[in-house]
Amino acid sequence: VKKPIIAIDGPAGAGKSTISRKLAHELGLLYLDTGAMYRAITWLVIDKQISLEDTEAIALEVAGATIELYPSDDLKLPVTVRVNQRDVTKEIRTPAVTRNVSGIAAQKAVREKLVKLQQIYGQQGGIIAEGRDIGTNVFPDADLKIFLTASVKARAKRRSHDLAQQGETNIDLQQLEADIAQRDFLDSTRELAPLQQAPDAIAINTDNLTIEQVIEKIKQFMG
Ligand code: C5P
Repeated sequence: VKKPIIAIDGPAGAGKSTISRKLAHELGLLYLDTGAMYRAITWLVIDKQISLEDTEAIALEVAGATIELYPSDDLKLPVTVRVNQRDVTKEIRTPAVTRNVSGIAAQKAVREKLVKLQQIYGQQGGIIAEGRDIGTNVFPDADLKIFLTASVKARAKRRSHDLAQQGETNIDLQQLEADIAQRDFLDSTRELAPLQQAPDAIAINTDNLTIEQVIEKIKQFMG
């Protein structure tokens, strides 16, 4: 039997990474953080000082780039990421990358390359893939599709907690809420594979649930 493909989509800060990673660990499946790939390309574009609007230069850079994901030993960081052989695990979580990632993720050349790469990771099944367009676009035939949501307030609180864990001391909660709302808007209104609940996805609002409770719910849906 082919091992399952589980798609977990939703907006920023709904708990996708923590939940997907834990669940994958418990079930012995591969955890794929697709947001980390878009972040890696964004880091590369910034590092090369390419204008975020220069879609042609970005397409060229993306075409030649290698991106590798490895399981992370660090509980605070979802995944170890290398782009063009360089370890950018920490760099891809900086505010500069977070602020610019939606603009890069909206570009056709970027999406085409990363979606292909994600599908290769999923070829054998046995994967929990997390992102914005997994159930709608990357793995439309996934065995289980979950759409995680939460209020902007709850998500901003979680992000501030994550940032504090990563050593950030200067956190403005209202700014975080505004940034999250803005990223939701950009991700869900873009032309290509926007953030959207697949018709056959099960929505779970995580506002009043612990990580363990969400994991339990997903396991129930797995049957
Ligand atoms: O999940 P994370 O916050 O790391 O995702 C960063 C960004 O990458 C998202 O805001 C979105 O613009 C983009 N993304 C995407 N499609 C995915 C995963 C992430 O467009 N499957």
